[in-house]
Amino acid sequence: MRRIVLPEVGTFEAWRSAARGLMAEGVPAEEVLWQRGAAEAADLFSTAASPPKAIDPREGASGTVPAAFLNLARTVIWHRDPQRFALVYALLLAVRRDPRLIADRGDPRVARLEGMAKAVRRDIHKMHAFVRFRETGDPDAPRRRFAAWFEPTHLVVEPATPFFARRFGDMDWSILTPDLGAHFEDGRLRFGPGSARPPLPEDAAEELWRTYFRNIFNPARLKVKAMQAEMPRKYWRNLPEAALIPELVTGARRRAALMLEAAPNPVPARAARIAGRLAAERVKPAPVGDREAFLHSLGGCRRCPLWRDATQVVPGEGPSDAPLMIVGEQPGDREDLEGRPFVGPAGALFDRIAAEAGLDRARAYVTNAVKHFKFVPRGKRRVHQSPDRSEIDHCRWWIEQEQEMIRPRLILAMGGTALESLTGSRRDLMKRRGGLEETRDGTPLLVTVHPSYLLRLPDPDRQAQETALFGADLRQAARMVAQLSPP
Ligand code: URA
Repeated sequence: MRRIVLPEVGTFEAWRSAARGLMAEGVPAEEVLWQRGAAEAADLFSTAASPPKAIDPREGASGTVPAAFLNLARTVIWHRDPQRFALVYALLLAVRRDPRLIADRGDPRVARLEGMAKAVRRDIHKMHAFVRFRETGDPDAPRRRFAAWFEPTHLVVEPATPFFARRFGDMDWSILTPDLGAHFEDGRLRFGPGSARPPLPEDAAEELWRTYFRNIFNPARLKVKAMQAEMPRKYWRNLPEAALIPELVTGARRRAALMLEAAPNPVPARAARIAGRLAAERVKPAPVGDREAFLHSLGGCRRCPLWRDATQVVPGEGPSDAPLMIVGEQPGDREDLEGRPFVGPAGALFDRIAAEAGLDRARAYVTNAVKHFKFVPRGKRRVHQSPDRSEIDHCRWWIEQEQEMIRPRLILAMGGTALESLTGSRRDLMKRRGGLEETRDGTPLLVTVHPSYLLRLPDPDRQAQETALFGADLRQAARMVAQLSPP
């Protein structure tokens, strides 16, 4: 039996290197015992650990593993199941024999690992959504200091924390968990041992969270089960706003009834168009450059009927002096719930490819051609519907103001809706992709496809090709931004 002890940090790279070595030596899956970290390894003192054979990266064993396998492995290894390394190694051997296996969702090994990867992605997402920092240092210090306590279901601290480093790069912080601590100091992220729950001081931001939560809570839309699925109870004790939930839920019926009483009679269907136009006229454009005023008037947008079913408007986000503006179609289900663009599956794919292409999302202004989620309810799901021409035309009002405010040096139009909104036509998108055009006000515009298009492609080879082209478009955008930016 070979025993491989993997480190708690850099686990995937170590697993990959060990797996390559074992595969090169022809070691079958059932002859390997995998462990992660000193604690797991110390439990099994009877077997001697044999270090993985050091492998030259040029060695053939790394050769022809499909990218889809590596993506799956890269996610699954953060699952807490002690079998995960062995399962992934067994699949690696099987995929080497038959690379098509990785696309076979009917294969029980693939299906099991896909299920585990999904649980890990969900946990990473929950960590991004539910970490709540508390200020622990001097608020007047040049770099403010924060700390948070979090209890992830899986071992996701390493893959989940670079997100916080991007988002909160201008402060120092620690995220403490029972498994591992992540510490960001002076722009460097490092990991340390896990800890017990520390006593963290309550700070002013908590009251802010509670006020925000009270304000976004809509009693007429309350669905307790859906809310608990979104924000499972296990996270409540670390969320300052969760203390409000019982009181808000109990009072919801009464508040919804009061809202109904106060509601005006419905507008007759034939008058909806006129009402929409009048409402549109009432929303004044924000003074150019005034972002707060812009957000305020966008929040009251009634230019088309999409606001009625959406949870909230989703404005663009990013620095006000961003050299690059990235435009998608419209918020999806996740974005509608979180109020931020590209935080769902298309956003995750975009983030991954952008990072590989050297395109820094944090330096870009990311927005959508249409600012409310359009969908049809199907059972418990809300199924995306593409916005139609009139919705795109109504929403152009906002994107033009965003252009005025940000004055980007380059705009990246992702997909037909963005292209139509910014140039007036989406014809021949696939011929135009990778090409440079201009928006109505003369801003250079680079055309590419939408990341959701990549997610929908059923054929893995085609998907890989299209993903590579998308990556090339993003690389080109990054290069152009560097060229168009003043030194
Ligand atoms: N798709 C988009 O076009 N925009 C988003 O924000 C999310 C998904």
